[in-house]
Amino acid sequence: MDAFDLFVIARALHVLGVVAWIGGVAFVTTVLIPALRRMPEADKRMELFEKLEGRFSLQAKVTTLITGASGFYMVHFLGVWDRFLQPRFWWMHAMVLVWVIFSLVLFVLEPLVLHRKFKEMAQRDPEGTFRKLHLMHVVLLTLSLVTVAGAVAGTRGIRFFL
Ligand code: HEM
Repeated sequence: MDAFDLFVIARALHVLGVVAWIGGVAFVTTVLIPALRRMPEADKRMELFEKLEGRFSLQAKVTTLITGASGFYMVHFLGVWDRFLQPRFWWMHAMVLVWVIFSLVLFVLEPLVLHRKFKEMAQRDPEGTFRKLHLMHVVLLTLSLVTVAGAVAGTRGIRFFL
């Protein structure tokens, strides 16, 4: 196996990581949270959300690590660090931005702050808390999907007016 084979494997792992991770975010955003918001028993919402998203959290952590490691390996292999200095490669910045946001939430903010804060807020105001949670997921999902589209088109040379 030569270095190019490793690069192709990294690329396949990168795309698999993105599919499992962003696909999960899409499910939570478009199916799980809307279903929970429609549940009549507000106190059960939180319990169910914790059980279901808690399981996804491990999957998201593993896929975030795979996507990041394979991504940086590809930047190194291709020798394209200078892309980060060029606005026309905005989709490279977007990939790293999405990765940094999710890594911060999953590995730092959620365990240290968000978990406790979200529970407290949901007890005080379940409707408002789930509305905010939904909005946050919609924003992150939109950013992720624009990034995926930009990266697929950008790696094939599309210039996007810049
Ligand atoms: C640390 C974070 C990341 C780094 C360093 C990184 C780096 C890279 C590199 C170097 C490529 C290949 C570019 C080329 O062939 O010219 C690539 C492709 C790609 N990346 Fe990322 N990436 C990261 C995170 C992400 C994230 C979070 C997403 C999704 C939201 C993503 C989606 C994609 C897609 C869809 C491709 C195109 C694959 C293809 O069409 O073959 N990446 N990435």
